[in-house]
Amino acid sequence: MVKPVTGFSKKTKEEKIDWLAKTYLNNNSSAVQTLQSYWNEDRKLQKLHDDFIENTVSNYYLPFGVAPNFLINGVLFALPMVIEESSVVAAASNAAKFWLNRGGFKAEVLSTQKNGQVHLDYFGKEQDIISFFAAVKPKLIESVAGIQKNMKKRGGGLVDIQLVSKTEALNGYYQLHCTFETLDAMGANFINSCLEEIAKMFEAEADSFQAFKDANTFPEVVMSILSNYVPECLVKAQVSCNVADLAQKDISGKDFANKFVRAIQIAQTEPRRAVTHNKGIMNGIDALVLATGNDFRAVEAGIHAYASKNGTYTSLTDAKIEDEIFTFSINIPLALGTVGGLTNLHPLVKFAFDLLQKPNAKQLMEFVAVAGLAQNFAAIRSLVTTGIQKGHMKMHLMNILNQLDTSETEQKKAINHFNDNTVSHGAVIEYVEQLRS
Ligand code: MEV
Repeated sequence: MVKPVTGFSKKTKEEKIDWLAKTYLNNNSSAVQTLQSYWNEDRKLQKLHDDFIENTVSNYYLPFGVAPNFLINGVLFALPMVIEESSVVAAASNAAKFWLNRGGFKAEVLSTQKNGQVHLDYFGKEQDIISFFAAVKPKLIESVAGIQKNMKKRGGGLVDIQLVSKTEALNGYYQLHCTFETLDAMGANFINSCLEEIAKMFEAEADSFQAFKDANTFPEVVMSILSNYVPECLVKAQVSCNVADLAQKDISGKDFANKFVRAIQIAQTEPRRAVTHNKGIMNGIDALVLATGNDFRAVEAGIHAYASKNGTYTSLTDAKIEDEIFTFSINIPLALGTVGGLTNLHPLVKFAFDLLQKPNAKQLMEFVAVAGLAQNFAAIRSLVTTGIQKGHMKMHLMNILNQLDTSETEQKKAINHFNDNTVSHGAVIEYVEQLRS
């Protein structure tokens, strides 16, 4: 029986590993060696990574790839991508190359406001909380003066506070809905610090508000937290060309465009397809968000909520043919930072920003939207022409060969063989066995 451990976080890394090995791994030295083999030899660099989180015992590698030839608003970029799925970078590169000679990607930030809420309980007269809020609002704004001093100097900060009644949805539920401009910071810490300060001031002032005292009913703060739903922080990306210019091997431009638009309409209509369709978009988005040290969970949550904004989960992309022009576009909410968080700490994140020519947050939003659109283009292109497995399994071939512990010569032969043969797990095993017999 495993006993609970106390003071685990206070143990050294070695002590933690020792405890894990004894408790769960039968003191298996090779498991410990696996953890150690991923430590960086540079002790300072390793310490930096150890300190990102609590209880670090090793590093977890993911490939850091690049997808070149992205023409974005007339400038060529190579997008850094961190992802485990074999075919994602290849697909992004394909889409970039496809659009390179067809006008490239256009991207534009539509809005940049973020938001957070102080969630309140209040069971008194609505008019009293409305009057109180009107009276106290200047003090609430003043309460964040210290926190937002630097942000304000740069042109950002708290934009507004509104009292919102949510009592129709939940008895006694009100909120202070606060909007922010956080410039090049993702802004989570800034927003949460502001909200907590606003909440403190709100409660303190409420204690001495006469109408609340008379009724002996005071508003209470339940919690204060930013929202990862940022539909007022929107970016748009699109590609567009003559239908005839979409002609490819074995398919005319017109047939391709019609099938493509139909595939998008299906994702717009059928949530089961929309989820997979959007997952493909997130392949591109997450890979770039991760490479740039941003919070991909926040991005995921916000984007999926946006995909359901009209009550049904639907496609994030749209495609149309008008006057023989094919247009394919994406609109997504994104809260990203190019300063703060891991951005100034992780050497590979710094590298990613250098590669992207040191973008500001708005430019990063544009790159990420383009990565999502490109990924979706590549997926739909395959789906409506060759099918997805051909390209996907080709990229996955190396993983299967590595699993089978193949030599370089065996790998070369297999790659050659599967150039003209369908890749499947079984087919690769059979081929390697045949090579070895
Ligand atoms: C696989 O990671 C992503 C796709 O399923 C996306 C799609 O179906 O559009 C290929």
